[in-house]
Amino acid sequence: MVDESLVVDIAGLSPGEMKAVQHGRLSVLICNVEGEFYALENECSHAAVPLDEGTLRGCEIECDFHGALFDVRSGEALAMPATSPVRSFPAKRRGNFLTVYF
Ligand code: FES
Repeated sequence: MVDESLVVDIAGLSPGEMKAVQHGRLSVLICNVEGEFYALENECSHAAVPLDEGTLRGCEIECDFHGALFDVRSGEALAMPATSPVRSFPAKRRGNFLTVYF
């Protein structure tokens, strides 16, 4: 059941860009993939470092620390050393704002 949400200003977040926003103690990574916006936990599942320090290429983000790859659409781990997904969150765009649901 969804009981919390976060509204994020996405104006100025161009395709291929990402930014981290804080929701309480949770860091959330917002990614713009060719005009579609995705939200996932901003923490690599391998060693808990921020994914916003990595590189977004298309729908994949590469962790800067050891090279793990994740699909930003689902959080699925695509390449070692990560074996677990990162959490992804449903999100809905309304104009220049993205509502992320937890
Ligand atoms: S901390 Fe991300 S791949 Fe190791």
